[in-house]
Amino acid sequence: MKTSHFLIALAGTGGLVACQNASSPDGGAGTSTTPERTYVMDPHSAARPEEAVIDHLDLDITVDMEGHRISGTAAYDLAPGAGSEVVFDTDGLEIEAVEDADGNALQHALGEESFLGRPLRVTLPEGTQRVVVRYATGPRAKALQWLEPAQTGGGTAPFLFTQGQAILTRTWIPVQDSPGIRFTYNATVRVPEHLMAVMSASNPQERSADGVYHFRMDQPIPGYLMALAVGDLAFKPVGPRTGVYAEPGLLDKAAYEFGNMEDMLTAAEDLYGPYRWDRYDVLVLPPSFPFGGMENPRLTFATPTILAGDRSLTSLVAHELAHSWSGNLVTNATWDDFWLNEGFTVYFEHRICEAVFGKDYADQLSLLGHQDLKATVERLRSSEHPEDTRLKLDMAGRDPDDGVTDIAYEKGCAFLTRIEQLVGRPKFDAFLRKYFDTHAFTSMTTEDFLAYLDEELLQPEQVKIDVDKWVYQAGLPDDLVVPTSDAFAKVEAELARWTSGTPAAELDTKGWTTFQWMHFLRHLPDPMTHEQLADLDGAFGFTQAGNSEVVAAWLEQCVRNDYEPAYDRLDDFLTTVGRRKFLVPLYTAMVATEKGKVMANTIYAEARPNYHSVSTHTIDDLLGWQQDVAPISL
Ligand code: BES
Ligand code: ZN
Repeated sequence: MKTSHFLIALAGTGGLVACQNASSPDGGAGTSTTPERTYVMDPHSAARPEEAVIDHLDLDITVDMEGHRISGTAAYDLAPGAGSEVVFDTDGLEIEAVEDADGNALQHALGEESFLGRPLRVTLPEGTQRVVVRYATGPRAKALQWLEPAQTGGGTAPFLFTQGQAILTRTWIPVQDSPGIRFTYNATVRVPEHLMAVMSASNPQERSADGVYHFRMDQPIPGYLMALAVGDLAFKPVGPRTGVYAEPGLLDKAAYEFGNMEDMLTAAEDLYGPYRWDRYDVLVLPPSFPFGGMENPRLTFATPTILAGDRSLTSLVAHELAHSWSGNLVTNATWDDFWLNEGFTVYFEHRICEAVFGKDYADQLSLLGHQDLKATVERLRSSEHPEDTRLKLDMAGRDPDDGVTDIAYEKGCAFLTRIEQLVGRPKFDAFLRKYFDTHAFTSMTTEDFLAYLDEELLQPEQVKIDVDKWVYQAGLPDDLVVPTSDAFAKVEAELARWTSGTPAAELDTKGWTTFQWMHFLRHLPDPMTHEQLADLDGAFGFTQAGNSEVVAAWLEQCVRNDYEPAYDRLDDFLTTVGRRKFLVPLYTAMVATEKGKVMANTIYAEARPNYHSVSTHTIDDLLGWQQDVAPISL
C-alpha cells in the first residue's frame, strides 16, 4: 500500500518553529519559508498530527530509584491550528490527570491496548494551546532498566537508563511517538542527591547539590530520541566539544578509549557540514545496555563492551556520531524507512573511519559488513518474512524492532556505495551534504529520498541504476559492490596454513587488528576437533581475551563444537553482558543441539534478570519463553 501524505497549512509563523530552531545553531542554513508540515501515516503511532501536533515538551519528573517509578508531568505546547482532539501514545503509563495551562481538567480517555500500547485521546476545547499530563510509569516500563548496585561497575549505587528507539519512549513519557513528529524540550529531573542525571540535551558536568537537574533541547527531535540516565556518574573532557560520562571507576579508561572523538567530529563536519547539536559526549553504561550504541542527541549511550583498552572498537562511536546527521538531523519518517537512518549512517561511519584511521581500516569494516549482509540475506530468505530483505520495509502490524536487521544497515550502505561508485565521490559527497542541509530537522520517507536523489543526482548525471530492485525487491542486486581488503587476504593465507597442519603458534599474526581477528574467527573450519580448538586457544588465549568482539566470536565457535573448556567463560559472559548483538548468535548456536538447549535455558534463567527488555524480548522468543504480559494500568 502506498503511504498517504497529510499536508496541513499552519497559520502565522507558528508552523515555522522547527525551521527557525533548526537554523539557529549554525547561523542560518536551512531556513524555510513554507508554513507547511507534511505527515505521513505511521502504522506504529496512534498520534494524528494532521489534527493536533506537539511542538514543545516541558517535562518535570521525579525518579524513585527504590520504587522503580518515574512520576510527574509532561506539559505540551501544541502547534497552532490544533483541532478538537490530540492523541498521545502511552504504554503501561498511569494517567493521573490531564489539564490545560490553567489547571482546568480536560476530558480524556485511554483507548484499547495493543502491542503499540494505549492511545490517550484528549478533547481540546477551542483555543487550547497547552496540555498537561500528570502521570507515572508502570511496573514493567519497557524503556527503563533499573539496576541494583551490584549490576553496576562501582557496585555501590543504583542505576537507571532509558532506551527509546523504536517505540519505547511511550512507556516512560506520554508522547506522540512517531519519528515523523519533532518537538523541543526542557526537563527538570529530581533524583537522589548522591546521583547524577543526564539526558539527550544540555547536560551537567558536575553533580548538583540537591539532586535537581535542568535540561534543554532547543533543536526539535522525535520522541524516540528522548533519553535519561541516572547513576553515580562523572564527566571527563576529551576535546573542546567532546567528553565522556561514566561511573568513576571507568572514567579514565573511557576517556582514553574515546580519545579520537574530537578528530571524528571534525572529520564528519568536513564531509557533510556543521555539527548542529553543540556538544558531543558519550555515556558509558553498565554492561546490560542492550545495544552497542544509541545515538541520543548530544549524548550517545554506549555499551562498556567497546572499552577494549586499545581503541580498536571505536568505529561504534563514529557510527553514533554519524547519526547526528543521518537519523537525528534528517530522520526516517516511519520505521519502514529505517534504512534511511542506518544505511546512511553505516556509509558515513565508514567515511569518518577512513578519514581518521585510513582506508585499510575502512576496507576491513566494509568487508565485515558485507559478510554480515550475506549471512542475513541467507537467514531471512528461508524465514517467516523473506520480504524483510527489502530496504523499504512493511512493518505494519508488527513490532518495528523485528525489522532491525543488517538489511537496513548493510544493504542500505551498499546501495549508497553503488551510487558513489557510479557518480564518483566528489559528486556524491556534494549531494549528501546538500541533502542534509536541505532536509535538516525534518523527517523523510524512502519515497521523499528517492525523488530527491533522482532530481539532484540520477537525472543530471544520467546514472543507470535499478532503484526499484535495490529498494523494493528482496535479495541482493547483481551490481552490489564487493569490498576487498589486503589485510583480510593475509588472514586467509594464515588460515589456510593452519588448516593444512601448521600449529597455531607458528602462524604469522603479528600486528593483527581486532577486525583481522574477527575475520579469522568467522572463517574457521566447521566442524573443528577439540585438539584444534585447544591449539588455537593455547596460542592466542581467546577464551580469556579482553576484547568483547573477539571473545564473542570465539565463544560462538566453542558452542558449535561443544568445546567445554570455554563454558565457564561463556556463562560469565552471558550473565554480565546484555548486548543483544552478542546474545543472539550465542543462544542461537546453543539451541541447535539438545545439550545446548539445556545449557541455554540454564544460563538464561540466571542471566535474564540482568537483561534489558529489548534483549529479553528477543531471547524469550528464541528460547520459547513466555513473554511477560504487561498488566493493564488504571
Ligand atoms: N540506533 C541504533 C540502535 C537501535 C536500532 C536501537 C534500532 C533500537 C532500534 C544504533 O545507532 C546502532 O545502530 N547501534 C549498533 C552500532 C553498530 C552498527 C556500530 C549496535 O548497537 O550494535
Ligand atoms: Zn545506528
